[in-house]
Amino acid sequence: TFVDAPAFDQPLRLREQCLVAVDGSGRICLVQEQCADPLGCTLERFPHLSRDDVTLVAAPQCGFFFPGFVDTHIHASQYPNCGVLGDDSTLLDWLSKYTFPTEAALSDLAWATQVYSAVIRRTLAAGTTTACYYTTIDTAAAQEMARLCASSGQRALVGKVCMDANSPEYYVETAKEAVEGTLALARYIEDTLASPLVRPVVTPRFAPACSRELLDQLGDISRANNWHVQTHLDENVNEIKWVGELFPEAQSYTAVYADHGLLNDKTVLAHCVHLTTDEVELVRSAQAGIAHCPESNTALMSGECPVVDLYNAGVQKIGLGTDVSAGASCSILDAARRALDVSRHRAMHSGGDKLSLAQCLHLGTMGGAKVLSMDQEIGSFDTGKHFDAQLVDLQSQESKLDIFPWQVGAQDGKSAAGPQPLDTSEIVRKWFYLGDDRNVVRVWVKGNKVK
Ligand code: GUN
Ligand code: FE
Repeated sequence: TFVDAPAFDQPLRLREQCLVAVDGSGRICLVQEQCADPLGCTLERFPHLSRDDVTLVAAPQCGFFFPGFVDTHIHASQYPNCGVLGDDSTLLDWLSKYTFPTEAALSDLAWATQVYSAVIRRTLAAGTTTACYYTTIDTAAAQEMARLCASSGQRALVGKVCMDANSPEYYVETAKEAVEGTLALARYIEDTLASPLVRPVVTPRFAPACSRELLDQLGDISRANNWHVQTHLDENVNEIKWVGELFPEAQSYTAVYADHGLLNDKTVLAHCVHLTTDEVELVRSAQAGIAHCPESNTALMSGECPVVDLYNAGVQKIGLGTDVSAGASCSILDAARRALDVSRHRAMHSGGDKLSLAQCLHLGTMGGAKVLSMDQEIGSFDTGKHFDAQLVDLQSQESKLDIFPWQVGAQDGKSAAGPQPLDTSEIVRKWFYLGDDRNVVRVWVKGNKVK
């Protein structure tokens, strides 16, 4: 059984008795529905193969294949703080009290290696096959993170955080250092690592922490090299007010990025909780993507991102982010549940549409792929895409997930009386509401098993 969510406005795609064949390059080369004999179908379609060339993997009775999750916004460097510190604060005091000291400590390369290895292990274990990471201002540690992503087999964008203004004296750099560090990281990723899985992302932390000169230069190098850009936008009302004071010449917070050449179709904007109508239009026309981070927005009391309204206004590149460590969980399944809750609360107090379960799963897979401009490569099970997938089992060794024995098995419909078996859509709902990394029994990136 293969389940995916290729379109925001469509129900989940459930394909039972489906064969998905993956070739040696890790790409999906055949999708065949209603296939009772997968080996026979494969050998018939690829006659040059023999039985020994083919490895078969079957989904368990109470499980299914699902696309790997895409985390469009995660601070690898903040992992030590997950769930420990910070819910007594809102954004700006949380940054100075907890976050900057945590990040600064990673200038110790041995510590950075431990933290970064752990975050990759945890995210892969939770089914995240692609992540868009922030590290710290430390270039050597950022390079180490890129190396660890490549060697762990996780698909990743890795950014060195840039900040040369309004930052503590123990955690700040010059514009020159920020630009040189960004170039050094990108060169290391593209020329030294040369991994097909890892790419650089230009990372001005957020407008308040960057001088105009730095923003300009980062805009220049990102456009000259066609690199991704990631930053934070319109997360918190005090932050927005501060940007207005720091950049009085700009029409809006979003306009600061646009004015400095940082807003385009490869830009990943975290949060976007409080965009004005003009800003929505700027983001839409630039075709930039939004990383919705519901747990973070709740923890820091930032607000509720109006995902459905944004989508209806034409901003249709929206994915999910854990925003570790403002979000305590490394799991995009958790983020999807939080997105559902936040949208329901929003609908309860302000009216309007809420997200559906299928839409939340779309945001965590195909939506994220679009945000990262990778929707031709990943996000769903279609011929030509890379096989980035997780195998979900509700009855895995460690987790018999609130299921009675008689709910497993017969999938041929309900009877009027007696035990009621679960059908595929009910299995998916159980997983959505109750699942965790114990149900992720295997993970592949580009056809390679990474869990
Ligand atoms: N804005 C600037 N830096 C950060 C950060 O580290 N986390 C969050 N949530 N918002 C930010
Ligand atoms: Fe963040």
